[in-house]
Amino acid sequence: MKKKKLRLKKKVKRFLIIFLIIVSLFIVVLNLPKHKETKKKVNKVVKKITKKKKTIKDKLQDQCQNINYCDQDKIDRYLNYYKDNNNLSYEDIFTRVNLNLDYEYYTHTSKADRLNKTDILVNKYLYLDEDYIPDNLETIPEEYARSGMKLVNVAKDAYVEMSRAARKEDLKIIAMSSYRSYKYQVNLYNKYKDSDGEEAADTYSARPGFSEHQTGLCIDVYDGKLNYTNFEKSKSFNWMQENAYKYGFILRFPKGKEDITGYQYESWHYRYVGKEIAEYIHENDITFDEYYVRKIANRD
Ligand code: DAL
Ligand code: ZN
Repeated sequence: MKKKKLRLKKKVKRFLIIFLIIVSLFIVVLNLPKHKETKKKVNKVVKKITKKKKTIKDKLQDQCQNINYCDQDKIDRYLNYYKDNNNLSYEDIFTRVNLNLDYEYYTHTSKADRLNKTDILVNKYLYLDEDYIPDNLETIPEEYARSGMKLVNVAKDAYVEMSRAARKEDLKIIAMSSYRSYKYQVNLYNKYKDSDGEEAADTYSARPGFSEHQTGLCIDVYDGKLNYTNFEKSKSFNWMQENAYKYGFILRFPKGKEDITGYQYESWHYRYVGKEIAEYIHENDITFDEYYVRKIANRD
């Protein structure tokens, strides 16, 4: 009898132990997902607290790595420019700072590279020496220009071809200004400065040395009737809009790009850059300044 009782006690004890183990396992299993979630949440918070948030400077540095004309040494300038122009893309920030547009016009200037090349850039930061006269200047036939107008030979040939093509459609394109010497620009700029004041003159006339007319690669045209400042209203202008790039010419100071070129819109001023560059600029609706930074500057 006693033995039986003892066995029963043992059995109950074993049952109780097994029961307890099962119950605790059950509790653990039930709480496992909850526990996991809490752990996740805690991890997230910890990460948020410990993780350094990417600053704008970090983002600019990241982007800079992917853009070949971006210069990591200019990161602080990019950052400052971005602060005032955060509507612009990273590409535009890098381009404009590389053009020195974060500096006042006519400050931080340097000599233009690529002298005597058709892809030379001259603007409010890149100048030509007083004694620079391009090689191979040739006179434009009087059929297509006022008397004595000169351009570098390749630009002249392209200009004559273009004017001839327009003439076939009964449209005149006449050059009324082309190559201008440094000295000529001194007189011209001073005349404008005296009549309109320096600030106004700077919006439409280049200071001596800073005019691309001195490169012998650009022309101011009119249609033979209207004053050149009204060229935009002529049929010849429409023809130029559609065809100039085919002959290697671009509108150098387009409407809406004044903050990049530094000059007011000039419907009459065309620059010879060669067919390949002109086509790219035409298709991508960018200025030559932007093209230069992205494709030419720092090229070997
Ligand atoms: N009108 C252009 C900007 C020049 O003077 O060269
Ligand atoms: Zn001009």
